[in-house]
Amino acid sequence: MGRKMKSQTTGQKRTATKKATVERKLRVLFVVSEMFPLAKTGGLADVAGSLPKALAKRGHDVRVLMPKYRATYSIDHRSERVVDLPQIPFGGFTLGCGIDESDALKDDGVTVYLIEHFGLYDRDRLYGYDDDWVRFGLLSKVALELPKAINWQPDIIHCHDWQSGLVSAYLRTVYNEDPFFANTATVFTIHNLAYQGNFDPSVREALGLPPETFQVHGLEFHGRLSFIKGGLYYADVLTTVSPKYAQEIQTEEFGEGMHGLLRDRAAQGRLVGILNGIDYEIWNPATDEYLPVRYDSRTLVKGKTANKQALLERVGLKDGGEMVVGVVSRLAHQKGFDIVAQATEALMNLPVKLVVLGAGEQEPLFAELQKRYPEKIATRLGVVDEELAHLIYAGSDAFLMPSRFEPCGLGQMIAMKYGTAPIVHAVGGLADTVQDFDPKTKKGNGFSFTGLTVENLLATVERALSVYRDSKLWQTLQKNAMKSDFSWNKSAQDYEVKVYTPALQLRRK
Ligand code: ADP
Ligand code: GLC
Repeated sequence: MGRKMKSQTTGQKRTATKKATVERKLRVLFVVSEMFPLAKTGGLADVAGSLPKALAKRGHDVRVLMPKYRATYSIDHRSERVVDLPQIPFGGFTLGCGIDESDALKDDGVTVYLIEHFGLYDRDRLYGYDDDWVRFGLLSKVALELPKAINWQPDIIHCHDWQSGLVSAYLRTVYNEDPFFANTATVFTIHNLAYQGNFDPSVREALGLPPETFQVHGLEFHGRLSFIKGGLYYADVLTTVSPKYAQEIQTEEFGEGMHGLLRDRAAQGRLVGILNGIDYEIWNPATDEYLPVRYDSRTLVKGKTANKQALLERVGLKDGGEMVVGVVSRLAHQKGFDIVAQATEALMNLPVKLVVLGAGEQEPLFAELQKRYPEKIATRLGVVDEELAHLIYAGSDAFLMPSRFEPCGLGQMIAMKYGTAPIVHAVGGLADTVQDFDPKTKKGNGFSFTGLTVENLLATVERALSVYRDSKLWQTLQKNAMKSDFSWNKSAQDYEVKVYTPALQLRRK
């Protein structure tokens, strides 16, 4: 099947390959394990739901492939069967599944395919099962079998995190000689290197991967079979979700044992950092339907006050004029809230109140703190609550992200749009997006610190408080934050020029 070219201006020479390729309409298949609004545990879902939209707006044919989870059935959308794949080959057995097409992103020009397999995906959680290797092995296999079944040849298969890591490994081994994919390149985006999908080596045979894949130059990682290495080693181009994280992961401190390989891939010019964007159709205080009062930078003071009151009322805290600090986060070790727990006594002596929405292994920390300081700390734990999340972004004065590492982070960018000052540990995307506010020059859009210690955290909260006390100065900071532009269009263009075009050129033979 031929690829379509957008018409070129007459007389313009096609020597400028860059221009020519950028103008070409690409077929891009996103392979992901979660996508907003159909399933979400974190920022990956936001990116999977918004980058395809931005690329489609730029004229590309973008399709998303993901599993149909139990949670997906309860989301308001329509889906219908497009094809059955009754016999997908693995090692010594086959799996059958159905592919549905969902209209979740139809208005934005994006086709979404859902893999229906009740035994594997109709479960309470998205991840964390012993058979995740086959659940996401199937996702990777379908990424190659579905395009053939519907005769749609992708230029780029864009994979995300370990769950889709095997796509590139299969493509460069089992499907290497398949003429259908002769012009298909793969891109692998690292949203989080800490989650690797490492399994017992026996799964290799069951997954139908050839023996030579199990070596250091392949999928082997300390005696285990690593799904993420499928992407890191075999993809044509790797990306990270912020420029800073692309540098950090080449160091021992942030490299999670993969820094050697990542340095090699960077040296080949195959590692690119592109900052995530925010979908301002969803995250915009001027249009946000979850908010009791909507506002923009002109109606900031009134709007923030009304939402702050609504938030405090909703979570059962009294307004004593304190600075309200919000948290909306996965409560994982990565996010650094154990440092907040250590700092709590000192923190509670300051005029601050804390509102926390989150789920994850560090929930007990906050449950305990809430019991100790019921008048100053409110928590909603173990749930994903979209509506409350929006109210926290709008109703808080500051938003706390003391992450140990942060590949990008969306919370700080969303907070800024709502005139809520981020307080962050300057790593990864937090360093790339938050500029420390300087009361003298009045420049900066938040507060950031280096060195994740109780002292540094407290000192930064105190700095924020000293600005907060000067309402004029605080408004300047809020307006700076609201003006910071993290829309997707620029990043989508970067994917075209810095990732997809080179991937097609660098594609391995
Ligand atoms: P990560 O992907 O590491 O979890 P990000 O900052 O990139 O962190 O993205 C987190 C996303 O998940 C944001 O959209 C945030 O609002 C949302 N989120 C996290 N926890 C919850 C929760 N309990 N309820 C609602 N939204 C949540
Ligand atoms: C990951 C990272 C987070 C990033 C998100 C979306 O979950 O932890 O920093 O913003 O993916 O790319």
